[in-house]
Amino acid sequence: MVIPTETVYGLAAPAHDARAVGAVFQIKGRPQDNPLIVHVTRAAHLDEIGAVLSPVASALTRRFWPGPLTLVVAGGTELPWVTAGLDSVAVRHPAHAFAAALIDRTGPLAAPSANRSGRPSPTCARHAARDLEGRVPLVVDGGQLEHGLESTVLDVRGELPVLLRPGALPLELLEAACGRPIQSATAQGPVRAPGMKYRHYSPRAELWLYPAGGASPAPARLARDAQRLARAGRRVAVLAHDAVAAERFIAMPADPVEVARGLFRWLVELDELGVDAILVEGIPATGVGLAVMDRLSRAATRVRATTEMEAVPGAGGFELGRGSQP
Ligand code: TXA
Ligand code: MG
Repeated sequence: MVIPTETVYGLAAPAHDARAVGAVFQIKGRPQDNPLIVHVTRAAHLDEIGAVLSPVASALTRRFWPGPLTLVVAGGTELPWVTAGLDSVAVRHPAHAFAAALIDRTGPLAAPSANRSGRPSPTCARHAARDLEGRVPLVVDGGQLEHGLESTVLDVRGELPVLLRPGALPLELLEAACGRPIQSATAQGPVRAPGMKYRHYSPRAELWLYPAGGASPAPARLARDAQRLARAGRRVAVLAHDAVAAERFIAMPADPVEVARGLFRWLVELDELGVDAILVEGIPATGVGLAVMDRLSRAATRVRATTEMEAVPGAGGFELGRGSQP
């Protein structure tokens, strides 16, 4: 069934039920090597799935659970259908009242975001139902969700925590709690959250990403591109701070929390409108802005620089997505 959480809608199955979890992979079209998060509400649930928390992990659960923090911990080996055969398991205690009450009754639930693999995560029940095209018998409508963006995924198996996926819980809060900077897995080399190597969060339309505005002339270049594309007969949507002439203009909120909440909804709605290209002005990659820019970079078909020269992939302080050609 599809359930609301405080981050995005999840496609949930009992973690112990290999067949039900297998159906989740099938319904999503998810690669078999991409493990799922197990959602829990009690310490007994962690024991049930054989999850072993280090002292650091336990301290973080006391500080941030329930909430949008997923911890990759040792264990889970008896649930290879959830962990994709790894010797670690991702666990999270959701803060959403319905999700928590359900898990209290059912026990641990494995749940990825309730979208077809590669598409934007659903932040309303209608988007989940539409994307999964009637393959799921029950969709629980929890309205618009609090965060609109997935949880932060942190590997806490080693001595130092490693960020596997930026998310709704800002990295700065985790660093303050740990009393030290946290490395991100992508900066270290090998990608350690299997899901992060796939193309992701992508609308059907092309997505052109511009650097964060401020002093840079990015908005001017964005406006020029919008005009040029429209003249070539393309249907263009723009998401930026200052108004730009386009078939559909969405004003980018000043608060990054609002951007996070709206981002996936806007991308899905613009796809429904049928535009060919979505031009998006970036925001500073701090706080939840780091996760917003991560998702936009992975969804982007083009990354545009402030000058007429194109951006160098990887130079922006965040990993770039599937393309960076002019
Ligand atoms: O907010 C969320 O996290 C939502 C809601 C439904 O809880 N769930 C979600 O799940 O975003 P999903 O499957 O879309 O993303 C889970 C991410 C993937 O990148 C996956 O590779 C990673 O977590 N992951 C899961 N288990 C892992 C493990 N044992 N080691 C490393 N990464 C893991
Ligand atoms: Mg997902």
